[in-house]
Amino acid sequence: MKVIAFVGSSRTDGNTSKVVGAVCAGMKESGHSVEICNLSELDNKGCRACGSCQAGKVEYCAVDDRVTALLPKVADADCIVLGTPVYMMHLSGTAKNFIDRLFAFYVQSNHTARCLPGKKYITVTCSGAPVGAFNNVTEYLNQLFEGAFQMKNSGNIIVGNVLGKDDVLNQRDILKSAEDVGRKLK
Ligand SMILES: Cc1cc2nc3c(=O)[nH]c(=O)nc-3n(C[C@H](O)[C@H](O)[C@H](O)COP(=O)(O)O)c2cc1C
Repeated sequence: MKVIAFVGSSRTDGNTSKVVGAVCAGMKESGHSVEICNLSELDNKGCRACGSCQAGKVEYCAVDDRVTALLPKVADADCIVLGTPVYMMHLSGTAKNFIDRLFAFYVQSNHTARCLPGKKYITVTCSGAPVGAFNNVTEYLNQLFEGAFQMKNSGNIIVGNVLGKDDVLNQRDILKSAEDVGRKLK
C-alpha cells in the first residue's frame, strides 16, 4: 500500500513525530511504501474559501503552495496517517489548517466525498495531560475521516503525559503498540 503520513506538530522531532515515525516503521516492515510530511515545514497558505474546489475549476485547490502540491498524493494514497499534539484542548492549528485544505475532497453540494472514500486512516494524538483527557480530538478526527470522508479506521493512537519533547521515549509500550498498528495495516 501507499501511505502518506502527516505530522501536525511545531516540534519537528517531538512526541507526535516519534509516534507517527513508529507507526510508519511498522508499515515499512510490512512492505508498505511510506512518505512522511511535516506540516509545519510546508508554508501552508490556508484555505481562502474561494470555492474553486467545489466549482470544479481546479483539480484540487487553487492555492499555490506546497499543500496543493501534496493533494494528488493524498488522492493516490491507500492510507493516510495524521498526527497532532493537543493544543489548547484541541488539535494543533497546523493540523487544522491542513484539514481545511482537504475541503478539496469534500463535495458540499450533496455532503459526500471524492477520492477518499474507502481509504484507510490512522490518527495519533499527543497530550501533556493523561490519556483520555482529550479524547474529543480523536472523536473529531474520526467524525471527519470516517463520517465525512467515508474512510476506514485502521487505528487511533492516543498518547498522554508527554510534555517534554522526548517524553514518549519513556513510554516504550506506546511506541511498540504504534509500530504494531503500522505493521498490521492491511
Ligand atoms: C500551545 C500549546 C498548547 C497546549 N495545550 C495543551 C492542552 O490543552 N492540553 C494538554 O494536555 N496539553 C497541551 N499542550 C502540551 C502538548 O499537547 C504536549 O506537550 C504534546 O506532546 C506536544 O506534542 P509534540 O511533542 O509533538 O510537540 C500544549 C502545548 C502547547 C505548545
